[in-house]
Order: sequence, then structure tokens, then C-alpha cells
Amino acid sequence: MDSNVFVMDHPLIQHKLTHLRDKKTGSKEFRELVSEIATLMCYEATRDLPLEDIEIETPMGKAVTKVIAGRKLAFVPILRAGLGMVDGVLNLVPAAKVGHIGLYRDETTLKPVEYYNKLPSDIPERDVIVLDPMLATGGSAIDAITIIKRSCPKSIKFMCIIAAPEGIEALTAAHPDVHVYCASVDSHLNDIGYIVPGLGDAGDRIFGTK
Ligand code: PRP
Ligand code: URA
Repeated sequence: MDSNVFVMDHPLIQHKLTHLRDKKTGSKEFRELVSEIATLMCYEATRDLPLEDIEIETPMGKAVTKVIAGRKLAFVPILRAGLGMVDGVLNLVPAAKVGHIGLYRDETTLKPVEYYNKLPSDIPERDVIVLDPMLATGGSAIDAITIIKRSCPKSIKFMCIIAAPEGIEALTAAHPDVHVYCASVDSHLNDIGYIVPGLGDAGDRIFGTK
């Protein structure tokens, strides 16, 4: 596995992922699980945030303790399904800004089509974490990151729940500077570009549109 790819095998994430995959799980529980998994993944994906010392006063006296060193984050969900992860990551980092990239996969070509793009204006001062539950062929993630790079953020990470090996290979080849965080690398893509075993269509399951 590429050294830029981190598979989060924490038991809580893996347990929730099993329920997420289950076709009997309805939209309400599916949304809750996506959000909870996003929170747990964000905890790991922000592990390298730098700290600095500050002096505070506890009821017992002065103490030098740590705070995050002025790093600013932006989360960028890929619409639609990435929206399901936003609440979960904002639970941990409420001061982060949120940009949006709208892409959908053309069902015949499987190529992403851009339809929306709104990023925070101070993105050059921010570390960006791109959110999308599914990395299948990698086309959507590659295009989203290419679009975000035009605004020159400090760094970009990509956080998904399930990745296909094909998507990881394509994404790490196209953007070798981007660290990829996922909860599982599944077996393969089927002949219509769905991840196997996967969880089906993430957007449809989040929003109940099937
Ligand atoms: C899904 C998913 C990713 C993309 C992954 O979105 O949420 O964005 O497919 O596939 P790829 O790696 O082959 O590009 P979809 O295009 O179905 O749009 P939606 O989120 O609006 O349902
Ligand atoms: N998009 C999804 O929502 N699911 C897949 O398996 C592949 C792409």
C-alpha cells in the first residue's frame, strides 16, 4: 500500500462500517453512521496538527499547556454524498470553514461532471480536508482536488469511508502529495463502476433518493 494511504482500522470505525454496508440499514441510521464515522476518522486525520505552548492559570496555579498552533482548516465535501460527513467533522473542528464542490459521475462514461464550486476566500491560509464517502474510479476525487489546488491551499488531505484499489491507484498517481484516509480498501469495482462489496450508492442511501 502507498505510504500516503492510511486505513483506519479502529474497532469502533469497523463496527459502524459493517452496519453502514448492510442493505437493511435505512436512511436515518445510514446518515447517523456516516456522520459518526466521519467524526472518528477526523480525529485520526488531524493527528499531525502542530501544537504550541501557552500559559494558563488553573485553580491550582500557573501551567504551560498545549493548544493547536493557529492552523486553520477547511472541509470541502464533494456533493452530494460528501455532505453526509460535514456535521461529523464539524463536531470536532467547529471553527473550520466549509467549501463545496459539486460533481456527479456520468452514468455511462463514469467521468465526473462539475456543476458547483464555492470555496472559502482565504483558502491559501488553510489546510483542506476533502470529504466523500466513496473513492471508486477516483475520477471525482482527482477532479475535485485539481479544482481546489487552483486556489492554492496550504495542503490537501482526502478522507473517504470506502475506497476501491483502482481509485487509490489513480488518486495517488494524479496527486502524490495528497494523503488519503479511508476506513476500508474493498475488493474491486464492478463493470458499472460500483465498489464491491461497498455499500451501494452512498448519495442515494443518505438522501433516500433511490
Ligand atoms: C459518488 C461518490 C463519489 C463518486 C465516486 O457520487 O459520492 O463522489 O461517486 O466515484 P468515482 O471515484 O468513480 O468518481 P455520485 O457521482 O454518484 O454523485 P452523488 O454524490 O450526487 O450521488
Ligand atoms: N459511488 C457510490 O456511491 N458507490 C459506489 O460504489 C461507487 C461510486
